[in-house]
Amino acid sequence: MSTSNLMAIDGETKVVGLFGDPVGHSLSPAMHNAAFGERGLNFCYLPFRVRREDLPAAIKAIASLGLRGVNVTAPHKESVVSYLDELSPEAGFLKAVNTIENNGGKLAGCNTDVDGFFFLLQNNLGKAFPAEKACLLGAGGSARAVSLALARAGVSSLVIANRTVARAEGLASLLIEGKIFEEAEVRVVKLDKKPLQEEIVSSTLIINTLSKDPVELGLLPQEEMRSCQAAIDLRYNPPETSFIKWAKRCGARGINGLDMLLGQGLKAFEIFTGEKAPLQIMREALIKAVKIYHHP
Ligand SMILES: NC(=O)c1ccc[n+]([C@@H]2O[C@H](COP(=O)([O-])OP(=O)(O)OC[C@H]3O[C@@H](n4cnc5c(N)ncnc54)[C@H](OP(=O)(O)O)[C@@H]3O)[C@@H](O)[C@H]2O)c1
Repeated sequence: MSTSNLMAIDGETKVVGLFGDPVGHSLSPAMHNAAFGERGLNFCYLPFRVRREDLPAAIKAIASLGLRGVNVTAPHKESVVSYLDELSPEAGFLKAVNTIENNGGKLAGCNTDVDGFFFLLQNNLGKAFPAEKACLLGAGGSARAVSLALARAGVSSLVIANRTVARAEGLASLLIEGKIFEEAEVRVVKLDKKPLQEEIVSSTLIINTLSKDPVELGLLPQEEMRSCQAAIDLRYNPPETSFIKWAKRCGARGINGLDMLLGQGLKAFEIFTGEKAPLQIMREALIKAVKIYHHP
């Protein structure tokens, strides 16, 4: 089902796309193709299912087929790094790439997830950003990008809660040794009910980056949360996740991750085309696509 105003394809069409496995669920083709149509750009965005063992060949094909660039999603964000000619400072720090630009055969990697999450914070919380204490659930790839955006937004205290404590400690060390949070305190707790709940009730901002639902895992407190002003779930399909429903029940504002996807897409569009992205068109395309792809 089409969700875009794709331009007519001809011999001059520039191809961009998404490398991942799976990619069938992705909303990025709808978002980017709508933007190309709106701007009248002769570009086309395609999903490419790339299996782990095919990644080296797929990366080579960016140059040999003359793709303008690609986004990269799971499971390749980290493994792709070693195949690239250059990395942005943030991608180098995170050792993870979600956008590759092809500059005449030289491949440059960057991480627009950081910009994406920062865009979400600015767009939804703006000057009311509750900077005192952020509790980050998870320490995987997206949690790393989120933590850099939290530093950029000026968080004063960060607690990282993860099932695998060593992974959370690895992220905390990276942030401390890299002096990412100039004055903020960074701590780690195990993702167990009691220590986690103690941290959550005194947090002003909670961000869920777990790939499993923390409500279904039975981890969250059920009382009113007086300190918490916002709870953000990186997931967005369905738009109101059970984590967001939980936040609202406990008196906090619930925000899904769609604006992070939009924010990283705005940045990727600018990298691919060199033009400013049409924000409203891209947002509308995403909202429409979520409805189409929503399987309750
Ligand atoms: N909105 C957006 O634009 C956007 C962007 C990126 C990602 N996301 C979403 O964010 C989520 C995480 O993505 P990711 O790339 O960070 O994944 P990831 O690197 O695989 O990290 C997964 C995290 O979930 C934890 N986890 C997994 N299963 C668990 C379980 N049974 N119990 C407790 N913890 C568990 C892992 O803990 P361990 O370390 O202990 O394994 C880890 O902290 C996904 O839902 C993804 O779709 C959204």
